[in-house]
Amino acid sequence: MHKELIKIAQDTNLFLKNFIKSQKKTELISPMSYGLFSGGKKIRSKILADIGYIFNIDYKTLIIIGSAVECIHAYSLIHDDLPCMDNDDMRRGKPSTHKKFGESTAVLAGNSLLTLAYEILSSNKLKLKDSIKLELIKKISECSGHQGIAGGQYLDLNFEHKKVSQKRIIEMEIKKTGKLFSFCCMTPLIIKQRNVREISKFANIGSEIGLLFQVADDLIDFQGSSLSAGKKTHKDEKKGKATLISLLGYKNTINYSEKLKNNILKKFRSYGDNSNKINKTIDFILNREK
Ligand code: IPE
Ligand code: IPE
Ligand code: MG
Ligand code: MG
Ligand code: MG
Repeated sequence: MHKELIKIAQDTNLFLKNFIKSQKKTELISPMSYGLFSGGKKIRSKILADIGYIFNIDYKTLIIIGSAVECIHAYSLIHDDLPCMDNDDMRRGKPSTHKKFGESTAVLAGNSLLTLAYEILSSNKLKLKDSIKLELIKKISECSGHQGIAGGQYLDLNFEHKKVSQKRIIEMEIKKTGKLFSFCCMTPLIIKQRNVREISKFANIGSEIGLLFQVADDLIDFQGSSLSAGKKTHKDEKKGKATLISLLGYKNTINYSEKLKNNILKKFRSYGDNSNKINKTIDFILNREK
């Protein structure tokens, strides 16, 4: 699992480096590259590759789409760390992008990474029919904007220091984190032109994997060390973040995450050995230290 994750991260980074190299040089490339390449697990690309494997999608195609996803992810982290949001000085064991390059540059590098995702998906490097590319662009937009990451980040900040129901916490976590995983899980079915019901089934599985990922991140914040996490831990409580841990307590959240994980694994059972890769990745999501 770790070897494969490293290979996917390397392949994704290589595609992104070459893609950026093929563009005109600008001053923003350096802060953008810092957000993209200064560590980062590339777990979303891995999920995409694992589901793509089940549906027999060409690896290179998956790496290109994964690269676009990672651009959006990197943008979301740069903005997440800004003083007007979580105000975090450390990310992946290094100064956050705004600490290194200044706030205005970090905002602009984030914006440019968001749009770079669309440059990638619409480029002729991605060898898919235009109608499929268009559908992918539509879905990734929905997952990133007010119905997805941006909307979830709004709720995350708005819920600080408030008593929030379990249902709304889950809604917030699915939007800010789950939706991008949802995009990764539905993409192979969109490429295979499966019907709406099947696409939506995988979109939902993706939301659940993303929820699991965010709950695991909240658990790392609660009990992990900054050294292994690469970012300051024990911060959510100080900031008054509404999480399942703040609502249900640590033990109950562990139980919740175990149930959620088993529920997700069940949904892949019918795929037999083809689901070995995704199963291992799901295990990793809950057992990781960073
Ligand atoms: C961190 O995401 C932010 C969350 C959505 C919880 P990752 O843990 O995937 O961040 P990197 O890219 O590996 O640093
Ligand atoms: C971040 O959630 C979610 C997005 C960036 C969309 P967190 O704020 O918990 O992520 P970390 O802990 O800073 O990585
Ligand atoms: Mg945040
Ligand atoms: Mg944060
Ligand atoms: Mg966190």
